[in-house]
Amino acid sequence: MTVRTAIIILNVAAAVVLAVTVAWRVLSLRRNPDESEPQNLSPAYPDDVLETSKLERVLFWSLICSGILALALPLYWLREPNRQAEATDGFDERSVERGAELYADQTMETYNATVSLGCASCHGANGEGGTAPTILQPPEEGAAPVRVSWQAPALDTVLLRYPREQVKQILVYGRPGTPMPAWGVEGGGSKNDQAIEDVLNYLETIQLSPAGAKQLQANPVEAAVAEAEDQLERARANLAQAEEGLAAAGTAEDRRLAEEAVELAEQAVESTEARLAEVEGATEGQILFEDNCARCHTQGWNYYDPTDARIPLPAEQGSGGFGPNLTGGVTVQQFPGPTGVADMVAFVTQGSLFQKPYGVRGIGSGRMPGFGQVLSEEQIQAIVEYERDL
Ligand code: HEC
Ligand code: HEC
Repeated sequence: MTVRTAIIILNVAAAVVLAVTVAWRVLSLRRNPDESEPQNLSPAYPDDVLETSKLERVLFWSLICSGILALALPLYWLREPNRQAEATDGFDERSVERGAELYADQTMETYNATVSLGCASCHGANGEGGTAPTILQPPEEGAAPVRVSWQAPALDTVLLRYPREQVKQILVYGRPGTPMPAWGVEGGGSKNDQAIEDVLNYLETIQLSPAGAKQLQANPVEAAVAEAEDQLERARANLAQAEEGLAAAGTAEDRRLAEEAVELAEQAVESTEARLAEVEGATEGQILFEDNCARCHTQGWNYYDPTDARIPLPAEQGSGGFGPNLTGGVTVQQFPGPTGVADMVAFVTQGSLFQKPYGVRGIGSGRMPGFGQVLSEEQIQAIVEYERDL
């Protein structure tokens, strides 16, 4: 039981006692309606009584009351600075709790059907990143819509990469043209500033340490090769299944569909084989670029999946998307001269800052994240070298 509930119970009890007393007084008057003697006519205490037992009783009770005051005031004073700090902590704790509720999806304990926004269903229960199922319309005429898994970035490192204000901006306005919706009222969403702050306060509590974040990307090439091998295995399994389907197909229509499926599966095996060969021959800089940068700087990378031949392939690596085109030597022009590499490493380490110039002619919008807390210096160096050759 908290102090708060104890005080509430005490107050309710006092109110009940007061009500009972008043009721009892009124009822007892009704029961004895005879006039009683007026108080000014009844005899008072004689001096003897007044100055001895009566006086002592009054003095005794005043001593008790003074004692209570003398104890209570210092106790209250002692707790005061703490009380204010606790009240502030309490505000923060409740804000984080509300944020956790907003973040949750149906599978989680903190889920609340009327409040939760389901960030977790795309970004993962612990903010480790995930995918958003999306329907994509390929640009070719007559092409059927395709189902893709759009990468939803990890949020357990988001405040290591962006200042809090920038993350707020993303939450309020979303990312137009991607599955990330706008949540804030200003962006056309339904959440007021307080709710957005609650989500941000919750995100603060799930951030990894910079060391922990760097650990996740300690062996990028190994991880990429393992993933490409896995994709090839899946593509081969799909092909085997499609061929079985073809063998079992009865009607001409079934046969036609099964042949299409086999053709798609064969294309997927080819693309995954090519992907594995590419990854095995790739530098660390390229893999790190694919893992960290391509989702913004390469159109279509967010849903690249060589195991499904219906999904369009990404544009040329680094040719621009949400972030600018980095190919054709533009980064060397932006960061030229003998200090070019160091300047560019510094830019990628820090990220872009709103309205702050960078390079020769860049003006930051704040939308380019900084990687200094999630990648090691050598890794950023490797990415920069890869980029300057694009
Ligand atoms: C329908 C799936 C979906 C939901 C729900 C969703 N997001 Fe996103 N979010 C995405 C995708 C996809 C991206 C990446 C967009 C892109 O490709 O640029 C993204 C991007 C972000 C980013 C930018 C991260 C970065 O590193 O650039 C933040 C921050 C973010 N989301 C927070 C949230 C929060 C907080 C919620 C819940 C209030 C939420 N998202 C709900 C799909 C979703
Ligand atoms: C969330 C999207 C996003 C990600 C992820 C991202 N960038 Fe960027 N990048 C941008 C945007 C947007 C700009 C343009 C600058 C601005 O708007 O502030 C930019 C600009 C740049 C520039 C300057 C280009 C020029 O000519 O002006 C370089 C270099 C760059 N990014 C490198 C990288 C590298 C390296 C990574 C990965 C380690 C990366 N970016 C990841 C969004 C992103």
